[in-house]
Formats: sequence, structure tokens, C-alpha cells
Amino acid sequence: MTTLVRVVGSLNLDLVVQVPRHPGPGETVLGSDYATYPGGKGANQAVAAARAGAQVEMWGAVGSDGFGRFLKENLDQNGVDTRHLRELEGPSGIALITVDRAGQNRIVVSPGANGRYTPAQLPPWTPAAMVLLQLEIPLATVQAVAEQAFAQGIPVLLNPAPVVPLPGSLLRQVRYLVLNESEAAALAQSPVETPAQAEKVAQALQQQGIPTVIITLGGAGLVWADGEERGHLPAHPVLVVDTTAAGDSFCGALAACLAAGKSLREALRFANAAAALCVTRPGAQPSLPHRAEIEAFLAASGSHRQSPS
Ligand code: RIB
Repeated sequence: MTTLVRVVGSLNLDLVVQVPRHPGPGETVLGSDYATYPGGKGANQAVAAARAGAQVEMWGAVGSDGFGRFLKENLDQNGVDTRHLRELEGPSGIALITVDRAGQNRIVVSPGANGRYTPAQLPPWTPAAMVLLQLEIPLATVQAVAEQAFAQGIPVLLNPAPVVPLPGSLLRQVRYLVLNESEAAALAQSPVETPAQAEKVAQALQQQGIPTVIITLGGAGLVWADGEERGHLPAHPVLVVDTTAAGDSFCGALAACLAAGKSLREALRFANAAAALCVTRPGAQPSLPHRAEIEAFLAASGSHRQSPS
């Protein structure tokens, strides 16, 4: 039986500037020297899962520029199988990111090749233990992949970021929906500012046919609803430097555990720790922790337990 995690999604070159605060409309703010990091929600989740110990392959597209070569090489160096990555004529995806003193970011993505990764670009279907999807590639491609996976009984983890209204047919093919508070609020059209509100929204989303809904709440931890069970897991108290890729870190680590046959509770505890480590350092992929580090962190914070609700 395969334990392969297949990530179908975006690869971006991140251009990051630290700012004292984010500019308002029409305002100019002076920031730090820029830094470049490999990013993109798809690639970040692929690297997060690989570093968490999974066998991972990535489906997606880079452009015919130098950024594209860099992004592919970076995945190769992280042990992600890139055999099915396409190179499409034109620019690669980039993300313009500002990070303020509290570690909070603002991101603008130019999709480049990611936006040209249509269903026609998908390779022939092969078995996998789990499929991870986000929304930085065309929705038609996400739907085509979810449909194939669902038809073959392969669990789909969807991270609906950046959030758009989603067809019910897609949601019914999702096994795990992992989203942050603003995405949950947008999808459910209901405020998600407290764990209690998040629990309600998680259950409302479950009613659309999704067995497991996990809503991440930054410093307030996460809430999850799995069938009839639900719970709240507090965040680890850490010094936040940069929240970029925290959600990706969480999704990749969660998928790695689930594909390896761990229980949802174990996987949540592991992914929660991975995200905590991720926010303590700058950049997208450089900030993603390895399995040994996550295990050591969990061992050191052994009293950090899930509270049932
Ligand atoms: O989730 C973080 C990612 O969002 C960044 O790496 C950036 O590329 C955007 O896709």
C-alpha cells in the first residue's frame, strides 16, 4: 500500500520586505532590504510534508524563467518528486510579501505559470495515499483532481486559500478541510473570532458533506470537528517572527501523519507543533521544520494536551 502524499498546487518565488507597519491605501512605507524565498502554498505544503517524513510528489507548473528553475531545484533538494512538474512558457508565480513587527503578513500573488496549469496539464492518474489541494491554481484543475481522487477513494485535504466561493460538488469530495479563521468566515459567511464561533462554523461546514473540518486560529490554537467528535487545541506559546507559511506547515505535517496511518488527534498535535516552530523564523520554506525537530519540541512541551469540548 502506498504512503505517497501528492500535492497539486502552486510554486512561487516570494519577495519579502519587513515593514514597521503595513501601509494604508495610497501610503508609502519604507521597509528592509528585500529577501527572496521559495514559496507558493503548494510547494510549501510539499516541503512541509517531506520534512515531516512523508514520501511526496508535486504536480504543478513553473515558468520558463530563472525563478522556475530555482523553484524546481529547491523541491528536488527537499526530496520532493518533481517528475511531473510542468515548465510552461512565460513567467513563474511570484508573491510580494510584507511582514510587520508582529510577524503578520500581507501577500499579493501574481500566479504566472500556476494560473496556466489547466486540467489539460495534469499527468495520468496514479495511486496515492492522500492528495493536498489549495486554491492558487485554476479552480477547474482543483476540481478535476478532487474528482479523480474521490472516485478512487483517495482522501483529499483541501486548504481553500486564497478563499473563493466553492461549489458544493467539490466540498462533497473533500475528506479534510483545513482553513484559517478568515477563510472559514468567508466560506460560512459567519464571524469566526473565537474558538466557540469556530466550532459552530466547523459544524456548519461539516453539514455541506465534509467529514473533518479543522479551523486554525493563530494564537488561539485550532478547533476541529471530525464526525461527531470535536475539540480545541491551544497554540504553543512561541515568539512570533513571521507567520508566512504557518498554515502550509500545518497542512503538510498533518498530511504526512495521516498518510502514515496516524490518528487525527496525533496528526493534529504534530501539525500544531510544526506550525508553532514555523512562525518563529522568517520566510516560507526556510521556516518549515523537520520531523526530528517537531518531535523534540513536542517532547519538551509534553504537558501541551488537547482539551475536548
Ligand atoms: O502561504 C504562504 C504562501 O502564500 C507564500 O509562500 C506565497 O508564495 C503565497 O503563495
